[in-house]
Amino acid sequence: MFLEVKNLCKTYGEKQVLKDVNFSLDEGSILCILGPSGCGKTTILNSIGGFIKNDSGQIILNGEDISSLNPEVRNVSTVFQSYGLFSNKNVLENVAYGLKFRNVKNMIE
Ligand SMILES: Nc1ncnc2c1ncn2[C@@H]1O[C@H](COP(=O)(O)OP(=O)(O)OP(=O)(O)O)[C@@H](O)[C@H]1O
Ligand SMILES: [Mg+2]
Repeated sequence: MFLEVKNLCKTYGEKQVLKDVNFSLDEGSILCILGPSGCGKTTILNSIGGFIKNDSGQIILNGEDISSLNPEVRNVSTVFQSYGLFSNKNVLENVAYGLKFRNVKNMIE
């Protein structure tokens, strides 16, 4: 399994946003996380990207526990939503932006 999210928990103040979130993904596969506003989708992505610290749980990428690594040393690229996007770039260019910095091959040009 390429990405494993195990028992991810995150609380903001009194509010538990993530409670034992578990899923795994094969390399090259696509997962869509759907849910109402405020259910924790961005919190999950921020956890995988390393932008927030989880209360507990593990993120395993390609066999390595990256849970405690800083964002810049994780082999992960995040495309932020709405105001975090480059308005002068199209969808593909926004998605490809972080990958170019990682020198990811076989991108659609
Ligand atoms: N830094 C923060 N401090 C306190 N509460 C936060 C913080 N970030 C997110 N939250 C709260 O955590 C919950 C989940 O937020 P999150 O942004 O993950 O939701 P979402 O599913 O991405 O929503 P949307 O569909 O609107 O993007 C919300 O109740 C939000 O108010
Ligand atoms: Mg969100």
